[in-house]
Amino acid sequence: MLHILFLFALVLAPASHAADFCVAKLKGAGGVAGYACRDPAKVTAADFVFKGIVTSGNTTNIINAAVTPVFVQQFPALNGLGLSTARLDLAPGGVIPLHTHPAANEILVVTSGVIKAGFITSSSNKVYIATVTKGQVMVFPQGLLHFQLNAGKTAASAVVTFNSPEPGLQILDFALFANDFPTELVSGTTFLDSAIVKKLKGVLGGTN
Ligand SMILES: *[C@@H]1O[C@H](CO)[C@@H](O)[C@H](O)[C@H]1NC(C)=O
Repeated sequence: MLHILFLFALVLAPASHAADFCVAKLKGAGGVAGYACRDPAKVTAADFVFKGIVTSGNTTNIINAAVTPVFVQQFPALNGLGLSTARLDLAPGGVIPLHTHPAANEILVVTSGVIKAGFITSSSNKVYIATVTKGQVMVFPQGLLHFQLNAGKTAASAVVTFNSPEPGLQILDFALFANDFPTELVSGTTFLDSAIVKKLKGVLGGTN
């Protein structure tokens, strides 16, 4: 009986085996459940290659830095594979402000320059800060507030990888000061002086 079951399993295995990939059809439902698959017969090698982070992102902005995401929306081949990547570019003085990726751990490989980075634990608000240079690797546990800043005199860059095709990105200062969250409530819930809140809203494009 066991032998028969084993044979059945062997015969059935290929048919019930999931597809090797599911290049996303980005139109339609996405989110946590992922996207529908494109017809595998029409998928080519080029669908598995992403060329958008060959060059530096544009760092001419308020943070002197650029995050170029390579999430499933940019690279549909990631759909269902449980990972994604991004390129960070930090001009001298550049900073990726405190932010979280709610859905993923992050691993950072410095590709040029010197980066000071850190994260804050949720359990005890302990801060871990390190300076990492070209070729060195740092990890940021899922969901924790963290930052990266250029600690050198030249441009710095890094490639980060996430264990989710949609890690999410929420920048703390943008959440507080780049929207219509009323100044009175931002002040009341953060204990920051309303003059500071108004000033930061002005800088980051917030209203109210
Ligand atoms: C970089 O961004 C700035 C500000 O938006 C813009 O003025 C500039 O043209 C951009 N540079 C390139 C090379 O795209």
